[in-house]
Amino acid sequence: MPSERSTYDLVIAANRLPVDRVTADDGTVEIRRSPGGLVTAMESVMRDHDGAWVGWAGETGDAPEPFDDGGIHLHPVGLSAEDVAFYYEGFSNDTLWPIYHDVIVPASFHRDWWQAYQRVNQRFAEAVAALAAPGATVWVHDYQLQLVPAMLRRLRPDVRIGWFDHIPFPPVELFAQLPWRSQLLEGLLGADFLGFQRQADARNFVRACRQLLQARTKRDLVHVEGSSRTVRAAAIPISVDFKGLERLAKQPEVMARSAQIRESLGNPKVLMLGVDRLDYTKGIRHRLKAYEELLVEGRFSPPDVTLVQVATPSRERVGAYRTLRGEIEQTVGRINGEYSRIGAPAVHYLHHSYPREEMAALFQAADVMLVTPLRDGMNLVAKEYVTCRHDLGGALVLSEFTGAWHELHQAFACNPHDIEGLKQAMVRAVNTPAKDRQRIMQALRRRVSDHDVQRWAARYLAALRSAPERPRLEQVADAPAAPDPQAAEASPDPVVAP
Ligand code: ADP
Ligand code: F6P
Repeated sequence: MPSERSTYDLVIAANRLPVDRVTADDGTVEIRRSPGGLVTAMESVMRDHDGAWVGWAGETGDAPEPFDDGGIHLHPVGLSAEDVAFYYEGFSNDTLWPIYHDVIVPASFHRDWWQAYQRVNQRFAEAVAALAAPGATVWVHDYQLQLVPAMLRRLRPDVRIGWFDHIPFPPVELFAQLPWRSQLLEGLLGADFLGFQRQADARNFVRACRQLLQARTKRDLVHVEGSSRTVRAAAIPISVDFKGLERLAKQPEVMARSAQIRESLGNPKVLMLGVDRLDYTKGIRHRLKAYEELLVEGRFSPPDVTLVQVATPSRERVGAYRTLRGEIEQTVGRINGEYSRIGAPAVHYLHHSYPREEMAALFQAADVMLVTPLRDGMNLVAKEYVTCRHDLGGALVLSEFTGAWHELHQAFACNPHDIEGLKQAMVRAVNTPAKDRQRIMQALRRRVSDHDVQRWAARYLAALRSAPERPRLEQVADAPAAPDPQAAEASPDPVVAP
């Protein structure tokens, strides 16, 4: 049943709703959880807030009627087939995504994609403007909606506008390649507060404003030319629902399922796990290469060691994603052809989407979690893994190029481009004595539990309320009293208070 209300004090806008509507040929409608870290994080936040979520419901055509799911009010925005091809697959995922991820694959620039991006951002801004109560808080998410802050400010100057970047913000040298770079920066500067995963991302944004817009900047502040407004840009790294996920992982059924998973894999001495969207940013090819070389060298041998790779298909109509899928499937086929035995594959390669309980069981079953992105804004999988390891078992191999590494630097660090180094990190994760691994896991868990998603949201909303001033600590409602946010200053990329 849709909510009876017509306006809300908190409205969030993200490209996707937390669920996709999938209509079968016989007209029956199925509601499926949508993929990705943004949904995982915001879904748990929105369950504690009585707000509305504006986003695409995953099908082309007119927007379905608003509906409620799990206590969240969902307001779909319609996207035509051309919008999906030009705004979502094109400009968002074939222009911005590669530029914001170190140009791992080349970016494509098309003027009609840019037209569609503007058109769809305007549609989102109008949908939000219609739902926001007077003086409401609006929280816009991610690279797909960078024009919404300024468009919304024109429509509704009374609302407070925040934007959060779930992915990296590129250095100005890469960002400057975008033919529409000034419009994108001006779009973001419509917000009161801009949140980023790492300080480096916030700094990149401020530097881009200074160099490309000739804006006056001071530390984390950007003055908006021709107005009296100042916008603050700071790092507030996203996290997971530590308590909720840990509770789930402690359920006897989940723990029993974890034992059952190991059993059905033949109780290997070492179970390695990778869980990723099938994205070239995730370093899946590099991980498989390192694993294959360890098999070739006889340092790992199935069935004692086995790898489970969960790879969720993603953005399948974008060429680079199709190519990647082909390459990965070929590599998995080659490794299995060489090293599997009947009933004991060297790599278990799975395309399925799993319920949270099954993910928690998989995390608990894995001795080594492989998180090897070439670039990743955060990587929530790394934080989910340590959250599920309440037994202090397991080891996390973590790429230095993830946002997560800037908080979880006790993990077994790797540079995925350095295959020899990646192999060493994998071997170290296996061979480190259990006592030392437990100590490491304890430290990782402490960090995630002190900085969970509830605290992230509280810090973000406090920063948005007080922007451009920094919030005073007591303004960070809901944040646990004990831990000192400045304690994070010890990490390699310190978190700006809050
Ligand atoms: P991204 O947002 O780039 O996809 P993250 O690691 O930040 O990467 O978030 C991925 C989220 O999707 C995590 O919450 C993870 O548990 C979830 N996820 C990934 N693959 C699956 C799958 N096959 N089934 C269910 N959930 C998945
Ligand atoms: O985290 C980046 C992101 O693009 C999110 O916006 C989204 O939740 C996730 O990756 C999945 O991507 P898509 O919505 O394109 O399937």
